[in-house]
Parts: sequence; C-alpha cells; structure tokens
Amino acid sequence: MAVSIEQLIEQVSESELLRFVTAGSVDDGKSTLIGRLLHDAKAIYEDHLASLDRDSRKAGREYIDFALLTDGLKAEREQGITIDVAYRHFATPRRRFIIADTPGHEQYTRNMATGASTADLALILVDARNGVTTQSRRHAFIASLLGIPRIVVAVNKMDLVGWSQNAFEAIRHEFGQFCTKLRIADLEFIPISALKGDNVVHRSENMPWYQGPPLLSYLETVHIASDQNLIDFRFPVQYVLRPSSDFRGYAGTIASGVVRLGEEVVVLPSRRLTTITRIQKGFEEVDYAFAPQSVTLCVADDLDISRGDMIAHPANVPWIARDIEAMLIWLHEEPMRLDRYYLVKHTTSVVRGRFTDVMYRIDPDTLHRQEAKALALNEMGRVCMHLFRPIMCDEYARNRSTGAFIVIDPITNFTVGCGMIIDRSHPYTGSTAAQRVALHQEQITVEDRSLVLGQKPVTIWMTGLSGSGKSTIAYAVEKRLLADGRACFVLDGDKVRQGLNKDLGFSPSDRSENIRRVAEVARLMNEAGLVVLVSLISPFRKDRENARSIIGGDRFLEIFVHAPIETCEERDPKGLYAKARQGLIPEFTGVSSPYEEPDQPDLKLDTTQLSVDACVEAIIGLLREKRILE
Ligand code: ADX
Repeated sequence: MAVSIEQLIEQVSESELLRFVTAGSVDDGKSTLIGRLLHDAKAIYEDHLASLDRDSRKAGREYIDFALLTDGLKAEREQGITIDVAYRHFATPRRRFIIADTPGHEQYTRNMATGASTADLALILVDARNGVTTQSRRHAFIASLLGIPRIVVAVNKMDLVGWSQNAFEAIRHEFGQFCTKLRIADLEFIPISALKGDNVVHRSENMPWYQGPPLLSYLETVHIASDQNLIDFRFPVQYVLRPSSDFRGYAGTIASGVVRLGEEVVVLPSRRLTTITRIQKGFEEVDYAFAPQSVTLCVADDLDISRGDMIAHPANVPWIARDIEAMLIWLHEEPMRLDRYYLVKHTTSVVRGRFTDVMYRIDPDTLHRQEAKALALNEMGRVCMHLFRPIMCDEYARNRSTGAFIVIDPITNFTVGCGMIIDRSHPYTGSTAAQRVALHQEQITVEDRSLVLGQKPVTIWMTGLSGSGKSTIAYAVEKRLLADGRACFVLDGDKVRQGLNKDLGFSPSDRSENIRRVAEVARLMNEAGLVVLVSLISPFRKDRENARSIIGGDRFLEIFVHAPIETCEERDPKGLYAKARQGLIPEFTGVSSPYEEPDQPDLKLDTTQLSVDACVEAIIGLLREKRILE
C-alpha cells in the first residue's frame, strides 16, 4: 500500500524522536558518558549543575563527576552502581532523545530487555583498555535478538590508551567480526573519552585519525524513519469506550501500519468484517492514522469486540496461533520449567500457557547452540509454547510489537522472560520434544508424555462411605483441573460397575477385584499422562494398599472423605441406606459390611465441616504441596 506525502511528513516529525538504550558496565564509564552527553549538549538545567558541583566536592573530587549526574536513584549514589532502567529525556535543536539507561551488573540482561523493546539504537560501551569482553558480545547479541536495528559502539577511555588508533582498530575489527553473525543492519564505532569529552559532543583534537562524527552528531542525524512497519495494519484493542449509548469506540495504540476512514477491516479472532467509520486522535477526528499513534476507532457494525481483540485488514492478517515458537530470554533466578504454567502478555492480552520444549540454548559469547532442558537466569534459547487461547501475532523480525511477548509468573507476578516470535513456517531442523517422542517409539516413557502434556500424572484415590461425598468432590476437582488445562479423568464406582466391572458384586473378594481392576486402569491412565481421580468406597485397607502398589507409591495419594455413618444415612442420596436397613441390600458398607478407616491418609476431608469448594481447595493445595501442580 502506498504511503502518502502527508504520512511521510508526519513520519519525519515522529522521527525527530530517537529512543536508544545504553549498555555497558559502570567501569566502562557509561554513567560518565551519559552525564557528559547531557552536559555538553546543554541539555541540563543550571540548578542541576550547581548541585552536581556540590555533590562532586562532597564526594572529594576536584572535577565535576558526571557519573553523579545520571544516577536518578539515590541508592546508586550510595552504592556506586546503577540499579534500574532509568528513562531520561533530553533534546537538542535537531532531535528529541529518550535514553533507557541500563545498568552493568547481573540484572543488566533484564533491564536491557525492558529498555530495549522500543529502542531505535543500542549504544554499547567498551573500555579501550579491556577490548571486546564477553559482556560486550552479550550486549550485542541481546540487541540483535531484540531487533534493535543499529548499534553504536563507543570505545571509551581512549585517553588511557594514548589515543591509539591501533587499539581502536583492533576493537573495531574484533567486534565487527562477531557482529557479522548477528542480524544488525547498521554498526558504527566511535572512539571517545567520556571523562575528557573527546568525540562525545565536540570533535576530539587528540584523535585526528578519526574522520567520523562525534557521538551526538551521529545520534542527531542517524536515519530512523524507515524503522516503522507501515505495511501491516495491526490494532490491538485496549479499551472499549462507551461514554453514551450512541457511541462505541475501540481505543488503543496502532502497533503497525496505517488505517484509513471508510476502509474495510476484519476483527480477530472472530473474523467478522466491518468498515471504519471514524478515527479519533485525541480531540481531533482524522482521515487516517498510523503506528505508533494512539487512536479510537469506530466501526459500522455492532460487533462484539473486546480488549485483546485485533483489528487488521482482511487481506493482511496476523497469525492466529496457540502453539508458538520464540527466542526467549530468561530473566529470573529460578530457571524456567516445562511442567508448570505461566502467563503470557502479548499486545493487550494476557493468556495462560506453558513451555513444551527448549530446542536449544545459545551461548552469547560463541553463538553456538547447546542442548538444553530449560533456561536459567540470563540464558537465551529457542522454545516452543502452548497457549490456552490463541494470540494474534506476527514474526518479531517483521513486527516488534505483535511479535513480542513477556512471560509472567502467575504466583509472584514477576516478569520472568521475554520472547520474540519466530516464523514457524521456517521450522527448526532439529527435533522438538513431540518429534523426538515420535522418532523413538520404543523408548517412549512417562516422562516423555509428561513433557508433551506439561503435567505430572497422579492418582488421587478417594475412599469413604457411600454418601460421604467422594464423587461430588472428584467431579468438582476434575472440573477445576480441566479449567486449568490439565488432562484428567474420574473413575467412580457407579461408573465402572456399569461396564468394566459389571460382573462384580459386593462380597469382599468382588470388592478386591473391583479395586484391583480400577487400580490397573488408573495406572494405565497415569502412564498415558492423565491425572486420575478415583472415587471408590474401597473399604478394606489391604485393597487400598494393593492399589497403591499397583499404581506406585510416588503417584498415589490417598484421600479419606469422611462423614459419620449417621450423616451418610441421613443424606442417603440414592436411597440405598434405607433399603439396606430393610435388609434389601446385603453386605452394605457401614450397615452390614465393615469400613476400615485409613490410618495415615494424605488428606482427610470432613464433609460435615467443609463445603465442596473447600474440599476442592484442600486437594489443590495438596497437589501444590506435592509439587504436582504449581
Ligand atoms: S467398593 O466397595 O467395591 O469400593 P464401589 O465404590 O465400587 O464399592 O461401589 C459403591 C457403590 O455401589 C455405592 O455408591 C452404591 O451406590 C452401590 N452399592 C450397591 N450395593 C452396595 C453395597 N452392598 N455396598 C456398598 N455400595 C453398594
């Protein structure tokens, strides 16, 4: 679709804003550089300077310490390190800038990832004395993973290497070599001394051999307008606005592309077609709008559109996917796990999902692929995820907005990872967990299935009198687990006795056989990867012990569903106690046949005290405690 002149003009004005992320350690002189940049560009206020002067004197320095200028956070002043991403705005007559300043200690991957998602450029600092370090390679790799199109390497402390061109060229050569393996469109090297001010804002007198621009001139002139994806229109609906009955608008930020009044659009995932009838930008009604503007759209038809839906052009739609592949950066001390659930925040929606495979991990230093089962803090690799609801997404390389997501721990709410979606139509030629399982059929284990299903199989064996509430609780737990996306199944006495065990009665030996068969079925179902809920009176201890040994102690949980016989008799849901008392049913448990209570059940539920919901919660709690559920 052609872009009009007006759009281009607006684009240019948008391009007067450059967002960049800085990466490097305290020792590389990053804070000093930013301070110098702000100071020499006259981008700070006089009163800041005065207080800076005082602070520097207090800190016992004769010169103005620019590192003191950039620490927005008090803690940094005290500890001498930068501790969080700090956004700083400054402007020169030619451009406005937003710096996402990220610190140099262990958390830097996290903070760089946070600060870099919208960055046009990454500024990586290298200490001229140390050359290219593992950390500088890592920074470049993360920048390329995050799709930052250009990198400027500021080779700092040139004063300490005698302004040596050789030292600079060596770093340029080594870093340049490394970056050829990364997807970086534009790579620039500038020799500087942040402390002395050489080539930061003003051209250095000390390095006449350097012909390029000083850092600020480069930042002011580097061309960024073409970064915006103006082709694929994507509008993730953030809010539905309904101030009065005759107005309904959908508010959000255009993730990419251009939208025009009167054109046909499609609403996803419902795939309903409609027409744009109004585009509201602030208080103004406009004929078109484009990324990254925030607008409210109105459409011709009365459709059911809600937060998380996506509006696009019918001929150019995103993928609607539940299974995604992505490059993932893990950001938390606790390593990622395949057997638990996470929340995935993608554009305006949050969905539950889990990792189904780690295909490989990348060593950021060598860029080699390594076999991995999970990713630990600051590690990066290619993963597969299964989501409970589809998301409308694009490949990250094409769309940094609809191609990105973050992973959140549902319990702590921490951001534990960030992902960049990969086009699955270019599949990885190695094998996924599911493929590996298919390849080695004879070797399929319960663990393989667990991995694919993302759950640990277990049998929850509920014993208790007829009418104590076993089945009611079992079905309620099943419902709860299914809603959580777990594969589970209830085996209850009445159900199995209608089919599998219809040849059996209620003599002690028939009951033993009933229990043995159900235990064997439960074992098979566990091997198939299911969570099984058994609801049987199973009145005899030895039969329950037999079931435990068939299923395996590590997969067997015994739950005693308790209610006194009087209560069960009062409840008498099937009218059987009455009949038993009349002598119509022989060997009826509790009446004419014994019930042996468990000595040490994993859980005892007193159903005269607890509601069904409370019993469900108690069982879920037990599963969590046993680390079967997270
Ligand atoms: S078990 O003792 O072999 O574990 P199971 O749980 O399968 O018993 O079946 C119990 C169900 O069968 C009861 O809920 C009740 O509906 C029905 N039933 C019919 N006769 C009897 C009986 N004699 N004793 C117990 N339950 C019976």
